[in-house]
Amino acid sequence: MIAGTSCEGAPRLEILADAGALARRAATLVINHTPARADSIYVFPTGKTPLGLYRELVATHRRVGFGFGGVRFFALDEYAGIARDDPRRLGRWLWQVLLEPMGVPRAHVVGFDPGAPDPDLACARVDARIAARGGIDLLVLGLGENGHLGFNEPGTRFDAPSRLVELTPETRATNAAYWDDRVDVPATAYTLGPRTLLAARRVLLLVSGKRKAAILDRTLNGPIDLAVPATMLRLHPGLTVLADTDATPPPPEPRALGQNDS
Ligand code: GLP
Repeated sequence: MIAGTSCEGAPRLEILADAGALARRAATLVINHTPARADSIYVFPTGKTPLGLYRELVATHRRVGFGFGGVRFFALDEYAGIARDDPRRLGRWLWQVLLEPMGVPRAHVVGFDPGAPDPDLACARVDARIAARGGIDLLVLGLGENGHLGFNEPGTRFDAPSRLVELTPETRATNAAYWDDRVDVPATAYTLGPRTLLAARRVLLLVSGKRKAAILDRTLNGPIDLAVPATMLRLHPGLTVLADTDATPPPPEPRALGQNDS
């Protein structure tokens, strides 16, 4: 069900009945976007929101053989200061839930090295590799409860490059839930920066659940502001927001007609 329509300068907002419908719609958009011989760059998030999408994609791969062809997958973000084989690695997570079951060759996956000796250089190389292949073709994002994108936390400049960042306490707390609060969430992480993210050709923002309703409202209707990094997406002409009804801001209260309205 499409509840919003696209218009110049406004993101296309599609409101889906529930998380299952959101996952199916997202899968349809990803599949339709992927030509058989694609060799472009995709960036997909970790987190809970996209898991339904990944289940749909894997099921479609198994049912009808849909695949990503030559698509290169670059990591959106990664914890820093952990070993390459650490079970907390976000790259390992995406590999397990999506890339390996989809038959993506390991050589087509580019991650951040969590122990890079020179983080600035490592990040500059990632940005340069993406730019050299023409930028990100399809960027799928989740929405942090504090408005972060990837690990671009509140206060991030909209022209920031990919880089090593400090995670906020709230992000560390929400990330701990991924591991049933059994592990320490690292204090620092790598993230693709807005400069690279905003240059993507197509952006899909997935938002699900009541816990996201307030931040989605600020993202769509609040001022475009560094305090809410996700508002930067409103500067992107190719943004589609898929949200379920739980995450969708209620419609504005009808205004009483006043003296100045005539
Ligand atoms: C995490 C990740 C993001 C993710 C977001 C939302 O901290 N760094 O890439 O999209 O927060 O996660 P979730 O879908 O679990 O709410």
